[in-house]
Amino acid sequence: MNQKIPKGNAPQKPEPAPQGVEFRRGSDVYHERRTAPTRTALISPEIRLRGAKSIDGTSRFEEFASLARAIRLDIISHSKIAVRTTKPSTFFGTGQVSSMAEEFAQSKIELVLVDTALSPIQQRNLERDLGAKVLDRTALILEIFGERAATREGVLQVELAHLNYQRSRLVRSWTHLERQRGGFGFLGGPGETQIEADRRQLRDRVASLEKRIEKIRKTRAMQRKPRDSVPFPLVALVGYTNAGKSTIFNLLTGASVMAKDVLFATLDTTVRKVHLPHGKDIIISDTVGFIADLPTDLIAAFRATLEEVVLADVIIHMRDVSNPDHEAQARQVLAVLADLGVSPETTPVIEAWNKIDLLTPQNDSVPSPKPVGTVEAIAQISALTGQGIPALLSAIEDALAKGSRTFDVHIPHDEGQNIGWMYDHCEVLAQADPGKTATTYSIRVTPRHQREFLTRFKGQLTRQEKV
Ligand code: GTP
Repeated sequence: MNQKIPKGNAPQKPEPAPQGVEFRRGSDVYHERRTAPTRTALISPEIRLRGAKSIDGTSRFEEFASLARAIRLDIISHSKIAVRTTKPSTFFGTGQVSSMAEEFAQSKIELVLVDTALSPIQQRNLERDLGAKVLDRTALILEIFGERAATREGVLQVELAHLNYQRSRLVRSWTHLERQRGGFGFLGGPGETQIEADRRQLRDRVASLEKRIEKIRKTRAMQRKPRDSVPFPLVALVGYTNAGKSTIFNLLTGASVMAKDVLFATLDTTVRKVHLPHGKDIIISDTVGFIADLPTDLIAAFRATLEEVVLADVIIHMRDVSNPDHEAQARQVLAVLADLGVSPETTPVIEAWNKIDLLTPQNDSVPSPKPVGTVEAIAQISALTGQGIPALLSAIEDALAKGSRTFDVHIPHDEGQNIGWMYDHCEVLAQADPGKTATTYSIRVTPRHQREFLTRFKGQLTRQEKV
């Protein structure tokens, strides 16, 4: 049976704000001012900037449009603009800026989203020249995260990341007016520019947020059971956004986590129990999707949410192998894992090559997948049709068994607590010589529980071997 594991303090996601009225998130009151979807133009600069991430081309273009669709915007146009050298003052060339300004004035564009990282000066100058708000990729991702964050901690962390981003942008300064809109909105109005006062407010707000987040963390750490007492192995799903994590999670657990063609449908980790074919139970967690150029602040912000990944016994890396950019996406995911301190050398990674139902001989624009980094096993699956799922489950079983050791242990019947612990944390393969006062058990112990096992049963082992 699937069972929801309680996850510390996770308040309900606030209802979407009714337009033009006050709403609350926790103890904070916000004011939603937007009345109609903002008329938006998307710009995808066509360059390979030095130091830019390798995701590029068509799929990056489409991904940017999906990002913009993830929040309520009225997308009027999406253009590619060739940029050979970037101008420090406006990013684009003078001619390009003036033709954009003309076009945007005609189509009454209110917001321009540019798929790159703009410096505060470039952003400010573009806003002035284009007569519209200008946001870059980081700001857009922050905006989406702000809308999706569901737990109290998630909301505060996104706000903190937002503030840190705003700190360098004097024009978009933090004001009491912006504050009313929810703290993490760029879309609600520029606010005025009492720069010094704003800076002070920003600093105070950052300090207060950090304190509140720390408090929530402490409470959660107290509520969270120590890792060793979790009776089942932990298996974490990770992957680039839209890879199909929620779909496979739902398939395996029978749960209904929102699986949508919307980027970042899942922001907070969801955890459930799953029964493997040979009887073992595991706990599986669905996590936030990763994305190219995820702001560093946000990676830090979601570190807590991604604790399940750090603690996992096995990681399933979901890859959408029908996406032409799947290899670059996989590299991004590994980079974020490395950032979280997770290494395939210590945590086995199974690559699940998902969406194979979309791979047809006609669809030859997609390069054949190859494993990226150190990989324990590969399973080719379709989370939609269920194809390849038994092989994936066997791969999980094998990966969990690897590194496990079997022991014969002689336990007196009056050691009720130890026997209970053994049944909770180890796999009992057989029982032998049940005598009046003791029994010998043949058991398999995963690496995670070996230390505790050896401490408890030192002196009672009659045989041990490595599997
Ligand atoms: P984020 O929440 O953004 O991280 O996405 P996710 O990785 O959880 O992806 P999700 O499960 O929401 O799936 C994204 C889209 O891909 C949905 O429209 C799914 O129906 C679709 N999808 C998932 N798996 C498959 C598959 O095997 N085949 C096909 N054709 N579509 C799939």
